[in-house]
This record gives sequence, structure tokens and C-alpha cells, in this order.
Amino acid sequence: MRTIFRNIGTLVGILPEGKARLQGAEMSHVETLQDAYLIVEDGRIADFGTGHGTFAKMDEEVDARGGMLIPAFCDSHTHIVYAGSREGEFLDKIEGLSYEEIASRGGGILNSADLLHSTSEKDLLEQASVRVREMMEKGTGAIEIKSGYGLRTEDELKMLRVIRTISEKSPIPIVPTFLGAHAIGRGFTHGEYVDEVCNKMIPRVAQEGLASFVDVFCDRGFFTVEDLERIMAAGKRFGMGAKIHADELESIGAVEAAVKGGALSVDHLEVAGKREIDALRGSDTMPTMLPGSSFFLGIPFAPAREFIKAGLGIALASDYNPGSSPSGDMRFVMALSCIRMKLTPSEALNACTINGAYAMGLSHEVGSITRGKRANLILTRPSVKSLTMIPYAYNTPFIDAVFLDGKRFS
Ligand code: NIG
Ligand code: FE
Repeated sequence: MRTIFRNIGTLVGILPEGKARLQGAEMSHVETLQDAYLIVEDGRIADFGTGHGTFAKMDEEVDARGGMLIPAFCDSHTHIVYAGSREGEFLDKIEGLSYEEIASRGGGILNSADLLHSTSEKDLLEQASVRVREMMEKGTGAIEIKSGYGLRTEDELKMLRVIRTISEKSPIPIVPTFLGAHAIGRGFTHGEYVDEVCNKMIPRVAQEGLASFVDVFCDRGFFTVEDLERIMAAGKRFGMGAKIHADELESIGAVEAAVKGGALSVDHLEVAGKREIDALRGSDTMPTMLPGSSFFLGIPFAPAREFIKAGLGIALASDYNPGSSPSGDMRFVMALSCIRMKLTPSEALNACTINGAYAMGLSHEVGSITRGKRANLILTRPSVKSLTMIPYAYNTPFIDAVFLDGKRFS
């Protein structure tokens, strides 16, 4: 099956084959072509260039009507398998309670775990599928999904099986992460729970092949650096990589330990500074920032500019979850990063595409306009003439169509 997109006003986000991520000053450049065409063959980008291209033996033709064609967003950090919502806590927050105060009263993550426990796998799947669909309609073409609302072995496995089913049914790549160490499960002491994660959950998850990565919420009041090291080592024994929640509430050495253990990403980083930047320099770990949760919780935004100035790359992700970021809208993430973290629109797009793909181990598959990659693409409305319009007019619809593997999805 061959499809040609013609009459593309600007083809955006072109990268050479093998470029896995962008770092430091590289992030400020987005390669484009004006008045371009792009050919998709069997779901993958086969060719592109300026002008009209050859129309020989095309099965389908898409008239882009002068719109921009950009790589679909790569959302490398979400928690979209959850039951119901936590709208009650939204009201508590309005009354002045902080995220930590809600958690220490037994709400927060434990609240979601209680609800998930009494929800069937089928219902969980239905609820999460609605979220995935909405995300794809908003231009997301690859998603990482974490467990972490089970907090007991059977419920963590239930979540991961839902993620597996989503992956089987979705037209986009889904990356599964085991986040057993999200909070201490009810009925366990801290020590007992970390033992359960390392000795029971990880072997079961590995046995069923349910996760590619382990994650740990390594922060004040949750899990320690020592826990992190144990859990990463346990995951590694079963061939799992690591993506770590770090430096959201306090700088306790999580980034150093995660980098040392070879984590693929460290995520949140709202309170990260020089110490974390020094640890990340020269590593393969992608710092990942989540402005949606800073916005929703009213906490500081991660110091993206300092990271980029130090020569590091950053990824941006939605953190879509019921407690700290009930939205998977990557365009809004892009806008927040420009408005509140002072990224340029080019940096923001690179952080939401190729660097997000890297943070999932998928940069050979998605995240840029590159020959051989999956044709997961956003076609903008013809009125969108520049990249800047996307984060600037952040509430004006900008998508004309989303294509997944070259097929029109919405
Ligand atoms: O990434 N910070 C830890 N975990 C999630 C929030 C989970 C929740 O509150 O349900 C996050 O923000
Ligand atoms: Fe998270």
C-alpha cells in the first residue's frame, strides 16, 4: 500500500536515520521542507522531498491543502490505566490541601488503588481505552503506560494485563512499565512492601513478560534511594530497564542513583538543580519533565533552561493520571513548556517527539520524519502556518487529521 501526501505547506521534524535524541543547543533546531510531498509505504515513511513527487503507482493520495505535517507526539510518561477519578481530591486541593497532605491522609495513590481493586479488568480496559483514543485524536502516536495503582501482586498484574491488551488493540506503540513502588500498599510495612516488589511482583511480571521497565517513586515520603537501588537491580536481573520518578518533592539523590544504575529516563525533576545536572552529563539517561503536573498541583516547573544550557536534552510528557495531571493533551504540555519553562516552540516540539521516543526506547521507530519510521503523523489545519501557532494559540483546534501507520485515524 502506497500513499502520497502532497501539497504539504511545511514538512516538520526531519531527522537523519540513526539520530536517537537531541541535546543542548541541538534542541533549538527543527529541520523543515517547504512545499513538500511525503510517501508512505506499508505504514512507514518511504520518501519525502520538495515539489510534487512521483505519482506513479500510488494507491491513495492525501491533499494536505498547505497544512503542516509533523511527527505525532510521543508521550513517554503516563498512568492512564486507573479506575474512576479523584475529583473529590480536586475539591480538597481547592480548599488548600497539598498533594502530600492528601496522600498522608490515606487519599491519593492509595485511593486509586482501592478503587482499582474493586474494578474488573474489563471495566479498567474500557475506561483506559477511552483515554487512549482521546490521546490519539489529540495527536499522540506512542505512549508509555505505568502500573502502580495495584500495590498488591494480583492487582499490579491486573493493571499490566490491561496495558498488554491496550497494546494488542492499539494502532500505536505502547510501552509497559511496572511501577509497583508507587506507594506502600495497604497492610504492609515499608520493608515488607519493598520485599514484595522485589521478590514477588518483579518475578511474576517478568514471568508473564508484562513490562519492559521498572519505575520507582523515589522521593520524600515515598521510596528511598536504597529502595530504588534494590528495585532497579531486581528488574535488571529479569532484563528490565528503568524509568524513575525523581526530584518532584525533594532532591534526595534519586537522579544520581538512577543514572548510575543505567536508567533510560528520570522523570519530574521539578526541584532538580546542579547536582542532578552534573549526574546526568555524559549519560544515556533522558531527563523528562512533566509541566502538566506542575500546573495542576501548583508546584514549581522543572528548570528546563538550565538543563539545556548544560548541554542536556530533555523530553516532555503528560504524566496523565487521576491525581496530579488529569490530561493527556501533549499540545497543552507543549504550550505550558513554552509559557512557563521558557522553551522555544522548536525545543518543545523536539522534547515532545524525538526525545520522548528516546525515553521509551522507541526512537528508531517514531518521533521524527525519517525514512523507515512509522508514519504516525499530525496534519495541521491549513490556517496553521508556523510551529509557533501551536503552543501560542493553545486552545484553538489545530489538527486537521491524525495518521497512524499512514492511515487516517481521525
Ligand atoms: O507522576 N508522583 C507520583 N506519581 C504520579 C501521581 C500519581 C497519583 O497521584 O495518582 C505522578 O505525578
Ligand atoms: Fe508519574
